[in-house]
Amino acid sequence: MKIAVLGTGNVGMTIGAKLVETGHQVMMGSRTADNEKAVSFSKRFPDRASHGTFSDAAAFAELIFNCTAGIGSLEALQQAGPSLGNKIIIDVSNPLDFSQGMPPTLTISNTDSLGEQIQKTFPSSRVVKTLNTMWCGLMVNPGLLKEEHNVFLSGNDASAKESVKKLLYTFGWKESQIIDLGDISTARGTEMYLPLWLRIYSATSNGAFNIRIVS
Ligand SMILES: NC(=O)c1ccc[n+]([C@@H]2O[C@H](COP(=O)([O-])OP(=O)(O)OC[C@H]3O[C@@H](n4cnc5c(N)ncnc54)[C@H](OP(=O)(O)O)[C@@H]3O)[C@@H](O)[C@H]2O)c1
Repeated sequence: MKIAVLGTGNVGMTIGAKLVETGHQVMMGSRTADNEKAVSFSKRFPDRASHGTFSDAAAFAELIFNCTAGIGSLEALQQAGPSLGNKIIIDVSNPLDFSQGMPPTLTISNTDSLGEQIQKTFPSSRVVKTLNTMWCGLMVNPGLLKEEHNVFLSGNDASAKESVKKLLYTFGWKESQIIDLGDISTARGTEMYLPLWLRIYSATSNGAFNIRIVS
């Protein structure tokens, strides 16, 4: 499948590499066509990877990962706007503002979420929020943790969520680990978990942990 990865940070690079390794054609998208990290990604996987602007990548792809900084996600997707159509946007971002230092603040919360804002801004696209509640190393390698743990899905389109589940299986997730929370408004909960995630990380100096639902 042709997949765009918008974002050249750790998440974009980690997800992009996993997608290439699992057989996809990946185009990395950035604000600039010659982003240094995107160029080296293409060199690392010459047969399956390419790079360009957010707009180039979205035009190339059948499916789009949003791995941009939450404060810039709408702007990044707006640059890709005309090419988004009814494509699935897998939204991994969190609306965190680090401009005042640590800990960051949530720029959207309680009665709204970034996932919802993306869906509202691009109503024809099919936004599925997932993977945003964990460190990127776990997103593509859940087996790193010895015990079973969970990943959440939020989105309005049932068939889009089924497609995203299938992709998550190729990342190593099992059906029993995936919890469909419901429509895109459920992204409020997963995004508002981030302040706790960051405090746990500070207290334990370890990012390789995740939520396990026990009942
Ligand atoms: N790091 C993790 O393990 C982790 C885990 C869960 C969720 N997340 C979420 O995943 C997203 C990516 O995180 P990250 O740590 O990989 O990278 P990041 O530093 O948060 O984001 C880097 C990307 O955001 C783009 N960007 C930054 N400001 C922008 C703006 N004003 N307008 C448009 N684009 C802008 C950058 O564009 P350029 O390429 O042009 O520089 C770059 O591609 C974030 O939303 C984060 O909250 C991260």
